[in-house]
Amino acid sequence: MTQQETELRRGLRNVYLDTTESSNVIGDVGKLIYRGYDIHDLAEKATLEETIFLLLNGHLPTRAELDQFDQTLRQSRELPTPVLEIIDKIKKAHPMDVLRTAVSALAAFETGVSDATPEATLRKGITLTAQMPTIVAAHHQIRSDHRVIGPDPELNHAANFLYMLRGERPDDDTARLMEKDLIVHLDHGSNASSFAARVAASTLADLHGAVVAGISTLKGPLHGGAAEGVMKMALEIGEESNVEKYLNDKHDKRERIMGFGHAVYKAEDPRARHLREGSRVLGEKMGQPKWFRILSKVEEHMRPYAERGICVNVDFWSGSVYYLLDIPEDIFVPIFAIARVPGYVVQVMEQERANILIRPLLRYVGPENLEYVPIEERG
Ligand code: CMC
Repeated sequence: MTQQETELRRGLRNVYLDTTESSNVIGDVGKLIYRGYDIHDLAEKATLEETIFLLLNGHLPTRAELDQFDQTLRQSRELPTPVLEIIDKIKKAHPMDVLRTAVSALAAFETGVSDATPEATLRKGITLTAQMPTIVAAHHQIRSDHRVIGPDPELNHAANFLYMLRGERPDDDTARLMEKDLIVHLDHGSNASSFAARVAASTLADLHGAVVAGISTLKGPLHGGAAEGVMKMALEIGEESNVEKYLNDKHDKRERIMGFGHAVYKAEDPRARHLREGSRVLGEKMGQPKWFRILSKVEEHMRPYAERGICVNVDFWSGSVYYLLDIPEDIFVPIFAIARVPGYVVQVMEQERANILIRPLLRYVGPENLEYVPIEERG
């Protein structure tokens, strides 16, 4: 087949790149499955550690497996001092840029950084999963001129992150909400950042490099950065009574509403359900029900868009949860990255297990047969 005969699919939409056993995004009915389990079940019944184990290993852990895995995570959270020093040197940068740089630097302290055996990738992936929350929290403390709060081995992954970030142990409900948030963000088919991680892995680059590619890609407002945009919108709206005018103005200017639409879901993003409820309950508890009411009204006014398959997505509700937890807006997307790293690891492992260099084509539509003109003769 010649290049001209090969079908061009811009953005690689509706193209299967490979097979996966990790997650299944069923866009037309709004379902998300991890390793055969519906995320609604996992978000309601499983712990985060259990779900990460499931993703990485393909089965739910036994009690002994879970204890061992949890122990490994808790013991792997510390950062090497030089990485903390690097964070200090670049503390003014966006937290995603700091995260990307710190993960890259961690490669220098990892043994077997280029070892792409499944055992090595899994081991390094678990360590990165444990370290990424420490990077985000340490950076936040350093830039705020506070002392770095080290990990607390008594706390689970989600609670420990909130503790290191906010300096106080969260109550059980808050820790559970963060746990649910991280569970629903763990993996998501060939999303842009996991695809970027796979492309890097397909060249036989190392896991840290692949995760850096993933983090870099996640930052954009069309992917992980949308939650920040949603809360900015809620703050700009300010009052329930302003919702209609705000949305009409956006519509007239043909601007997108952050937190709506998805490349795969043409029904409601199933992840949104858990965070919508979390946002409602947390808003009541914090004495700030206003944000839930404003966002619910936005959702209501966006209903006509649903007929065109532009429905609410996960980012619409996660931003308000983080805001109510007093988490700065620029840390919303790093939380997504903290959650997504096991997804990158599992996809890198799949790529490494049956590798093929990912190398699509670009159809050339530029000029042809031009004659080189020496610089002295160019007008
Ligand atoms: N608000 C208003 N109109 C929209 C929106 C939106 N949020 N999303 C899509 N549309 C319209 C778009 O303007 C276009 O209209 P027209 O055909 O008249 O030009 C049509 O829908 C199709 O848009 P598209 O960009 O071709 O569709 P897509 O499937 O590539 O869009 C998207 C996916 C996520 C890039 C897009 O919906 C968007 O920009 N959403 C806002 C950002 C956002 O919330 N991102 C988070 C995604 S969920 C987290 C994650 O998994 O990454």
